[in-house]
Amino acid sequence: MSKAIKSIVSQDVRNKVVLIRADFNIPIQDGKIQDITRVSRSLPTIKFLLNAGSKVVICSHLGRPNGEHVEAFSLRPLITALSDILKIKVHFTISCIGQGALEAKKNLKPGEILLLENVRFHKGETENNIEFARELSGLCDFFVNDAFSCSHRAHASLHAITNFLPSFSGMLLDEEIKALTSVLNSPAKPVAALVGGAKISTKINIIEFLITKMDFLVIGGAMANTFILAKGYDVGKSMVERDAINLAKTILEKSKKFDCKIILPEDLVVSKQFEENSDHKIVNTSSIPSEMMALDIGPKSIENIKSIFENIKTLLWNGPLGAFEINPFGTGTFTLAKFAADLTIKNQLITVAGGGDTASALNKSGVAEDFTYISSAGGAFLEWLEGIELPAISALGNN
Ligand code: 3PG
Repeated sequence: MSKAIKSIVSQDVRNKVVLIRADFNIPIQDGKIQDITRVSRSLPTIKFLLNAGSKVVICSHLGRPNGEHVEAFSLRPLITALSDILKIKVHFTISCIGQGALEAKKNLKPGEILLLENVRFHKGETENNIEFARELSGLCDFFVNDAFSCSHRAHASLHAITNFLPSFSGMLLDEEIKALTSVLNSPAKPVAALVGGAKISTKINIIEFLITKMDFLVIGGAMANTFILAKGYDVGKSMVERDAINLAKTILEKSKKFDCKIILPEDLVVSKQFEENSDHKIVNTSSIPSEMMALDIGPKSIENIKSIFENIKTLLWNGPLGAFEINPFGTGTFTLAKFAADLTIKNQLITVAGGGDTASALNKSGVAEDFTYISSAGGAFLEWLEGIELPAISALGNN
């Protein structure tokens, strides 16, 4: 990052109106919250500010309502959730800007919360509109970005807002940056990344960046099939990106230059159907039957990756190694997640994970809480892994 970011924890915030940009983009169905994890991750900063006697104003987006008021994307269900957790009254305004919001900010007392309605109900948010940001900042003293998971968006409540208020990072944002920096910039070595998922084309920039930083790069998931094809083996009916074969070849070549060892599956679990409990067998990577598809890594691959985990000090995990959502094709992902978690518990390995469906795969393995750090971010985590400066974080640094 270009310049140092100042954390809100070092500021005197008593009696100040502090606007927090949180990420409350959580699953809500028929007004009922399905998963509160992201809200829980925001609590340390909120509690810190409440205890320090601030008047706390929280804004967030939910979903992609395209600048319209869409009731299904209202943050209203968060009122009860927050007041139940924090045991205080949570005020709410039906628009994040305008007279109502200004009045509510004016009436707010130290130790109270005002939740503003979804910032994406206004086009100005995604357009990074300067006037919208000015209105949003009205009557506030400080701005706190505690939404690392949204910081790849140059949106008004994350970016333009920093033009109007002294701006700081929140505790979750600090934590995310610390964890990711420690893995990518100054990891305990040797360091490995495990990158899984379906498509090499969506992860190409990440892989290209990681081979310059990692000692080992373990590739799994359907993405591995493209590499297997690039090595000259048939992949049968497996999901594969034939037009990315040259990319895969280039990566295999480049990795040698950076002394990064790429680990591909030696064996695979294959099946004729992509279905729960379908008939399956284990084959060597070099002999995938033409009528079958690879859905998980096999036992030899698992053992090989385990031995790598035993010999490294830091592991960065992004993406599943197989079709973990359907039984029994989560074995590779779950076995290795447990193994990495055990090494973490024994203080032999630092494990940092995040991005896409990584958290849900690790949650399903039952060991997520034993990892050193699991990022709350999806897209932002992936962009960070590409070595991209996230615009909302750069904006904090320029403040
Ligand atoms: C996320 O869920 O990754 C963030 O909340 C960002 O949401 P977005 O992709 O709609 O900007």
